[in-house]
Amino acid sequence: MDRLLIRGGRPLEGSVRVSGAKNAALPIMCAALLTDQALELSNVPKLMDVRTMAKLLSQMGVEAGPLIDGRTSLRAAAAQNPEAPYELVKTMRASVLVLGPLLARCGRAKVSLPGGCAIGQRPVDQHIKGLQAMGARITVEHGYMIAAAERLRGAHIVMDLVTVTGTENLMMAAALAEGTTLLENAAREPEVIDLARCLTAMGARIEGAGTGTIRIEGVPSLAGAEHAVMPDRIETGTFLAAVAAAGGKVRLTGAAPETLEATLEKLREAGARIAVSGDVIEIEMAGRPQAASLRTEPYPGFATDMQAQLMALDTIASGTGVITETIFENRFMHALELQRLGADITIQGNTAVVKGVERLQGASVMATDLRASASLVIAGLIAQGETVIERIYHLDRGYEALEEKFGALGAKIERVK
Ligand code: UD1
Repeated sequence: MDRLLIRGGRPLEGSVRVSGAKNAALPIMCAALLTDQALELSNVPKLMDVRTMAKLLSQMGVEAGPLIDGRTSLRAAAAQNPEAPYELVKTMRASVLVLGPLLARCGRAKVSLPGGCAIGQRPVDQHIKGLQAMGARITVEHGYMIAAAERLRGAHIVMDLVTVTGTENLMMAAALAEGTTLLENAAREPEVIDLARCLTAMGARIEGAGTGTIRIEGVPSLAGAEHAVMPDRIETGTFLAAVAAAGGKVRLTGAAPETLEATLEKLREAGARIAVSGDVIEIEMAGRPQAASLRTEPYPGFATDMQAQLMALDTIASGTGVITETIFENRFMHALELQRLGADITIQGNTAVVKGVERLQGASVMATDLRASASLVIAGLIAQGETVIERIYHLDRGYEALEEKFGALGAKIERVK
């Protein structure tokens, strides 16, 4: 298994281009199931999760073209095999995003339950409840959701909690349903807006994406379209947090600064100087950061996917940072690994109290999930000596060319096979 070897203690300098967003690309790829025409995508990141999704869609009869320079084409001329097997769903929870489109297009679907996930339970009850309200019959048999419907009907759905992929699944299903669907307490994440933009380009009638109430007027069929995937706000935030922790001056291009307000605010609190102009973010950091306290919330609050990276920053900050995780119940695994590097972190329930230490020391650590891996990379960049990160397949799921990008900024970072 590959590992990352990092020699820490250097500031980051230079320029890096942000990739397309994983969490926008995955649902948008599933939208290809809604039409028999081609969906032409650009700014698609080259990631393991994108490959897994292409594989899953191919198994269903979707012709998935190669991914070249961020461009790919998906065509579901016939969706023959509406099944998402456990082997793929267990490696990537976002596979559940095929459920709504399959049901809308084929009238049936068999999708494995995602099962336990390292960062919490992550049930899919809201996806099921919403589709049932639209007239689907769904049973759970042998670990699979078996769903059927003649034609889905528009419905008034009030979601019990804010779920990103739940909102996306229901929005895709409603796009082809008969009548109007009102989704209340919908997720407001920018990735939901990006999916709505793509669906609209395909002929869907959607209003209110990006607000808590989304109104979808079903249409009989959707057509092919071209769509450029939005920039990855979590990748952007990860690089920004790394600079705030390690010091230096970096220019990020191809970013969407307006999707990163909560992160930018925390990094400014930590002492970073940040300038935004169009799709460029410039960050400059000198000296030791100030500890930042935060609480994760659905968008536009502070993203749970940025929590681990900010914790890495707090480990060497002056002062104490208090981090409360409200979205996932078990998302502090990185704290134990950061402690191996010398961090002073106390966990009480869903709150971590991080007392900044003068410096971290390199050690061997283990990545436990995608964003936890990113926090360990940041910690490695600021630690004295050598840090070895094992199980970096987690990182490959969601970061494009991470070590090349950090390498270009002057970091000593190397993949060892
Ligand atoms: C998405 C993101 C993930 C991010 C998360 C929260 C993708 C592909 N992944 O995951 O990177 O960390 O949003 O911003 O976009 N829940 C239920 N029932 C449901 C659905 C969710 O109880 O039916 C709970 C979950 O257990 C969790 C919370 O709701 O506690 C939020 O989860 P959700 O927004 O659904 O996360 P994902 O969409 O899986």
